[in-house]
Amino acid sequence: MKKLLLSFLAAVTLLQVKADEGMWIPSLIGKNYDEMVRMGLKLSKDDLYSINHSSLKDAVVQFGGGCTAEMISANGLLITNHHCGYGAIAGLSTIEHNYLDNGFWAYSKEQELPAKDMTVIFLERVEDVTAQINAATRRYKGDKQAKKLEEVIKKIEEKAAENKKYVANVKEYFNGNQYLLLVYKKYTDIRLVGNPPKSIGKFGGDTDNWMWPRHTADFSMFRVYAGKDNEPAEYATDNVPYKPKKYLPINIKGPKEGDYTMIFGYPGRTNRYEVSYGVEVAIKDVNPSIVKIRGKRLDIMKAHMDKDKAVYLKLTSMYASIANYWKYFIGQTEQLKRLHVVDQKMDNEAAFTKWAYKNAPEYKGLMRDFSKIYNGYNTYAKHAVYYSECFKAPALAKLGASTEKLYEELDKENPNQDTIKKHVDAIKSARKSIMKTFDKGTETELTAEMLKLFYQDIPKSQHPSVYERVIFKKFGGDDMDKTFRNYAAYLMDNNMFLDSNKFNAFCAHPTLEKMDEDPVVVYALSFVYNYTTYYEPKVDAFAKRKKELAKEYVRGLMEMNKNKLFYPDANSTMRITYGKVLGYSPQDAVHYDYFTTLDGYVAKIKPGDDEFDSPKELVDLYKKKDYGMYVDADGTLHTDFITNNDITGGNSGSPIINGNGEWIGIAFDGNWEAMSGDIAFDKNYKRTICTDARFILFLIEKLGKAHNLIEEMEIRK
Ligand code: ARG
Repeated sequence: MKKLLLSFLAAVTLLQVKADEGMWIPSLIGKNYDEMVRMGLKLSKDDLYSINHSSLKDAVVQFGGGCTAEMISANGLLITNHHCGYGAIAGLSTIEHNYLDNGFWAYSKEQELPAKDMTVIFLERVEDVTAQINAATRRYKGDKQAKKLEEVIKKIEEKAAENKKYVANVKEYFNGNQYLLLVYKKYTDIRLVGNPPKSIGKFGGDTDNWMWPRHTADFSMFRVYAGKDNEPAEYATDNVPYKPKKYLPINIKGPKEGDYTMIFGYPGRTNRYEVSYGVEVAIKDVNPSIVKIRGKRLDIMKAHMDKDKAVYLKLTSMYASIANYWKYFIGQTEQLKRLHVVDQKMDNEAAFTKWAYKNAPEYKGLMRDFSKIYNGYNTYAKHAVYYSECFKAPALAKLGASTEKLYEELDKENPNQDTIKKHVDAIKSARKSIMKTFDKGTETELTAEMLKLFYQDIPKSQHPSVYERVIFKKFGGDDMDKTFRNYAAYLMDNNMFLDSNKFNAFCAHPTLEKMDEDPVVVYALSFVYNYTTYYEPKVDAFAKRKKELAKEYVRGLMEMNKNKLFYPDANSTMRITYGKVLGYSPQDAVHYDYFTTLDGYVAKIKPGDDEFDSPKELVDLYKKKDYGMYVDADGTLHTDFITNNDITGGNSGSPIINGNGEWIGIAFDGNWEAMSGDIAFDKNYKRTICTDARFILFLIEKLGKAHNLIEEMEIRK
């Protein structure tokens, strides 16, 4: 009886929409509006999203493809996280002008530094194209349907792009049950305006990452430039600051517990509708593999970065992003277990099947179908992870693997010259980007260690032939480490990719013979063909079937809960989440306050430490309590705070907005106790970690002395 009742309750609570849970689609936010108002929103629906006049959506951009940023002045001034600007800041830094270590402040527009390759996109409008897509694909099945789908999407996107005036994407929502067209304007002249020293912008480093309490000032500032007509334009010295349709005024009253907060941003990916079988594979195979491989990779990189500052600057951004998701998967696994997510999901699935038997027989075998596909998948899930995370980690593997398509074309009876050219261009551009983070010492060690790890952890029957036919035959000895080291050193010195003359000669006249003679091509393609011949087809078939089942599952859940408002999984499109400022209890008898202070920051400082040191100037300001107008009523300077908004990776840099539409801080992280949040939202634990607007402005004014920037913003109290 108890069990039955429990699973019934679980089914009811499964997707019960609570204010704090949900990443809502901006164009459909009207459905949540009444609740938002009840919680403290003072704006109109049209102030949130409108295509006819300016609204909050116009102030928020996707930054660099994977982060969020927002407009905070009438002149295109943009703020995002420090960890989002990190690559650009490191790229602009040299040993002589080390903006990463020392910070950077532009005191005039002339001093701003063009951030190459940076882009931002502004959302113009969203349109539901589900009916159009269904009409075009309904009559087909299987592969034919997939092809039709691709065609109709391409057609819709091309039309909406109006001859490259816009960037247009059709995206799937609710696991393929709905399609929306998103139309953007893309700006590419982006310039660095300011950032605190790394010791402040990344204070606490990887030790504090994904954790509360936190004291990081995770922000950096850029400016969007446009042509004289305010339209996108390639970098040019006479471009002018972009005039946004909307920018956010800043409120420095300071958040109080219970205050309404909302976040607009670009969450990347969640899997909230994942089934119990998927969670089991994650816990058992996928996550521990990623953690092990990345841990090894990070150790190797760190040893080389610590020895040489130039290597440090070259690798630090890549290091930070590998470390970020290394720790993420440690936390996710821990919390999936602690919160018994597999059991929760199993209860929900049992309730779903029970409902299906009674009310919707077409779904009654769905869970059994899931279980079947996962049974097959278990035997090669690990290989798939090792292929992408381990084999492909070293630069040589990526360089070699980039020739796959060209190899295939040249192997044909009548290779097509245009196709060859296309593949050669792709290899050139892959090489260009891989070489940006190439350091020979690091890469030699990495190649050897990744070869060894793959060899040891993947069943022998699944190994590519290069191990027996080349490595052990020609480099083998009793000492395995030495074998892989010697082979890696040999690869390093014998290939066409690291020798520009040889590489250019190859690109001018690519032949199969040259490829067969290149040791790096031989090594990489042995892994590639082993994977693409035996494992990739299985992985693809699994993914395809899983997608079909997941679509049915979500549709079934919506039928089962007709009166409930559903939100779709994150998919790198703009979403709104609303909730409030709120502390939490991480474990029995422990309570976490909703904010931290500079007192706590200074108490954490460890002079000379890689993660916990900070400039003397900050400590001096602290000693003098020189907080200016940013001081809290309690006499301290607040640094970070938390809310119960529902965000994930990609939301980094999102604005925290109060009920009046004012900016009160910037979101930058999630908390340890809710690291399973991308798979299952937990109301008790899930929090968003933000840097307080007052801490940011204090650093700009008192540490950076960039009064020009403070004056540019609209600050309210
Ligand atoms: N966990 C943060 C996020 O995913 C990134 C923090 C970057 N800092 C770091 N120490 N790696 O948004």
